[in-house]
Amino acid sequence: MKFGQKSKNTGPKEYQIAPENILEVRDLRVDIKVDDYILNAVRGVTFTMKKGEALGLVGESGCGKSVTSKEILGINPENCSSAGEVLFRTKAGQVLNLLTLEKDGDIYRGLRGTEMAMIFQEPMTAFSPLYTIGNQLAEIIRIHEPKTTKKEARERVLQMLKKVGIANPEKRIDQYPHEFSGGMLQRALIAMMLCCNPDFLVADEPTTALDVTIQAQILELMKELQKEFGMSILFITHDLGIVANMCDNVAVMYLGEIVEYGTVRQIFHNPQHPYTKGLLRSLPKMNQSRAERLYVIDGVVPLPVDMQPCCGFFDRCGHCVKGVCDCQAISERIVEPGHYVRCVLTEQGDK
Ligand SMILES: Nc1ncnc2c1ncn2[C@@H]1O[C@H](COP(=O)(O)OP(=O)(O)O)[C@@H](O)[C@H]1O
Ligand SMILES: [Mg+2]
Repeated sequence: MKFGQKSKNTGPKEYQIAPENILEVRDLRVDIKVDDYILNAVRGVTFTMKKGEALGLVGESGCGKSVTSKEILGINPENCSSAGEVLFRTKAGQVLNLLTLEKDGDIYRGLRGTEMAMIFQEPMTAFSPLYTIGNQLAEIIRIHEPKTTKKEARERVLQMLKKVGIANPEKRIDQYPHEFSGGMLQRALIAMMLCCNPDFLVADEPTTALDVTIQAQILELMKELQKEFGMSILFITHDLGIVANMCDNVAVMYLGEIVEYGTVRQIFHNPQHPYTKGLLRSLPKMNQSRAERLYVIDGVVPLPVDMQPCCGFFDRCGHCVKGVCDCQAISERIVEPGHYVRCVLTEQGDK
């Protein structure tokens, strides 16, 4: 793909995805232009999500998780260009290729909020310091449902604040963001998201900035809400412990590619990719003595500048096959149904 080139829809095109799916991402590529070079931040990512599914997207910082999810929501900055297909089923049953929509156009703006939403690591940045929490939540409801009166919107906000476990919501509704703790703000952000009842949610490291106990409460809340509302959640985290607790399936991402994909059970009990194995080994274990040092994967995620087809992990991998892993595109192989890996060390045939 040349920089700036976009896969434009030339005329009304019908897209089809499997009836049980809400999202199909096909060979998504995102390049970011930075000064005088281009980062190949997402290098051909393909995955699907069923309605009501929680998919964990895991990997260290800099692997391309946020860029992938922001591309789905159409909120990457101007210096990003994309190719591939992101097919999304709306509540009305229409399948749209999101990459062909104007990012600031009416269709996308209508989708964000009512059909798809995002909660981030830093809830503070999602709120304006100038308005009360109640006003900001009510505003969102009234933007998406203009017929709602102020009184009705306030009533809905109160219900939502209660639902997300904010104590004393009658008082809290009139407070400003700075009067909320980090955990409460994250709850308020979840309430904001729920006000519009989206089918698809991206949760990008939603609990990373919180204390461990608050983290557990927020995760529990999200799990309950997901069940109640049947939302599909793309759960982005570098913490495999959270994935085990929250997700049905896991996609392990490294340097802009999904290197392994499977159910939580497949990934935790039968990991195949050296990177997945490394991530799992770096999890603290219950029976580990304090003197024992935690495993760390050597090296850091490099910047994806001018990436050639090869395994992104080759120079950090203890099993790299020189002349193969470092200079060829690695195709996806099936380990067993629903479990895929992109590594030449696995014996199974190509997909
Ligand atoms: N707006 C941006 N400008 C320049 N580089 C960016 C921008 N956003 C992300 N990147 C780069 O793209 C790569 C992927 O980043 P990101 O998706 O944020 O990683 P993750 O969410 O997995 O930590 C990284 O190398 C990061 O430095
Ligand atoms: Mg990120």
